Formats: sequence, C-alpha cells, structure tokens
Amino acid sequence: MSNLPQNELKKIFEERLLESIESPDSSIVKQAMLYSLAAGGKRLRPLFIFNVLKGYGKDPMIGMKAACALEMIHTYSLIHDDLPSMDNDDYRRGKLTCHKKYTEAIAILAGDGLLTEAFKLSCECTEDINKNMAITKILAQGAGASGMIYGQELDIQSESKCNLTYEDLKKIHLNKTGRLFSAALMIGCVLSSRESDLSRWEEIGHHIGLAFQIQDDILDVTSTQEELGKSTSDTENEKFTTVTLFGLDKAKNLMEEEYEKAINLMKKCDFDDSELILFLHELIVRKF
Ligand code: IPE
Ligand code: IPE
Ligand code: MG
Ligand code: MG
Ligand code: MG
Repeated sequence: MSNLPQNELKKIFEERLLESIESPDSSIVKQAMLYSLAAGGKRLRPLFIFNVLKGYGKDPMIGMKAACALEMIHTYSLIHDDLPSMDNDDYRRGKLTCHKKYTEAIAILAGDGLLTEAFKLSCECTEDINKNMAITKILAQGAGASGMIYGQELDIQSESKCNLTYEDLKKIHLNKTGRLFSAALMIGCVLSSRESDLSRWEEIGHHIGLAFQIQDDILDVTSTQEELGKSTSDTENEKFTTVTLFGLDKAKNLMEEEYEKAINLMKKCDFDDSELILFLHELIVRKF
C-alpha cells in the first residue's frame, strides 16, 4: 500500500487531473476547462476521498480517478456560479474567471464539458463495475437537481430576501455545499468496501458542508480578494448569509459547532480518524 503524504498525493492528483481531459487539442473549450482546473484550488474534496481511504487502511491511490471526476464537477460548479447571471464574479482561484478570460458562451460550454467528462471518468474509475456504478450514482445525486443544483437554485432565489431563518440557510448550505462533501466521503467509503458506514459519512458531509459554507460567508466579509483569490460579492449580490442573520461572532461559533459535530460522528465509525481530524482542524483555521 502506498503511504504517500498528503502533499505528494496532491502533486500526483494535479497531474492526473489535467490528463483527464481528452477532447481535441484544438478546442477552445478544452483550453478553458484546463484553465479553470489548473488554476489551483484547495482540492479539499479529493483530499477527503484520500483521507477516508487512508483511515480505512486502504491505498489512497485507488481513489485517484474518482477524485478527478469529483474535482471536475466542483470546478464546473464554480465556473457556472461565477457567470454574470449567477454571482457575476471576475476572479476565481487567483485568476480571471473562466467567462472573463474566454467569453460567457465558452465558459458555459467548459462547465458542461467538465460535468460530462466527469461522468465518463467515474464510469471507469475502478476495475469493479459495481463500484463504478455506485460512485457514479453518488456523484449524480450529490451534484444533481436534488443536490448541489437545488442548493444553487435556492441560493439564487434567496437573493435580496431578508427574512430567511437559520433553517432556510441550512437547507441552502447543505445542498449547495454539503452534498459534494458528502459525495467525497461516501466515495471514500465505497472504495473502502465499508458500505455499512455510508449514511454516517453522508451526515458527516452535511455538517462539514454547513460549517464550510458558514466559513465561506464569513471570509467573504472579513477577507480581501487578494487573500481569497476570488471576488467577494455577497454584499453586492444582497446575499442573506449566516453573518447577516447572526453577526460574525455567532456565525463563527456555529461554524465551529458544526465541525465538532462532524468530528464526533467520525469517532463512531470503525476507522482511524487521526489524519482526517488533523485535516479538519486545518480547515477550521483556514484563511482562504
Ligand atoms: C468554493 O469551494 C465554493 C464553496 C462551496 C464555498 P472551495 O473553497 O473548495 O473552492 P476551491 O476549490 O478551493 O477553489
Ligand atoms: C457556491 O457558493 C457553491 C457552489 C455550489 C459553487 P458561493 O457562491 O458562496 O461560492 P464562492 O464564494 O463563489 O466560491
Ligand atoms: Mg454562489
Ligand atoms: Mg459565488
Ligand atoms: Mg461565497
């Protein structure tokens, strides 16, 4: 079993990710897809897959293709999230957003391309056809119209509203952000052949997603574009967030509470949680 440290795994992941795009070299859409993928990003969802595998004593390398598929879906969601008809942002991952660099039409197609190519990859992400089907379904459910897309719909509808409750916000966060974190953890679980733990990982992902999105909303008002590598547009877009509802201090407490809930649930899995907990502690103090 390879026991590669996280930075080595990440390096291999970065190479594989760019090799995963097979469309013609002459294609501008291919260039745009590679531009957004290569721009960086924290690669958190892939790292969650690798850390679950490690915790179950498996070789994290078996999650490489599934990790690429998930990161392609996440990157597509960001390209579309930045479009003028969505959040209308100019910077992402320290660079111009895809539509600013390549036009809106090409950015839409690049997002569509990444989403579609991701499923091609997930269908062949292991040698076991049943696992490939299970992983493909997890990705589709997490990213689809009752998952991340539903969350984005609720998010857009909530713009300019000022009477949302915390329950409303949790529903948005859980879907737009939590569902892809759950997908990452569940994929790690399936690849480890520990299906009996699946629902627990799904719930852990919801808590991490909620915490992560509260934190994203905090950073949107407390950090600069330079620090974050992306535009900070929540105020301009009249987004109603946990910070608007409760203020910074309470939002921070809620964020920490959700991370704690995730950690406590993790302890219930028959699993070496040491690396994953370290990883979560790094997330709790993240600055971008
Ligand atoms: C940004 O996700 C979108 C949210 C769900 C808040 P990340 O913060 O993981 O973005 P990258 O991948 O590091 O760019
Ligand atoms: C978007 O949330 C989450 C996605 C599903 C893409 P945000 O709109 O808050 O993400 P950022 O702040 O642009 O990264
Ligand atoms: Mg958005
Ligand atoms: Mg946005
Ligand atoms: Mg945000």
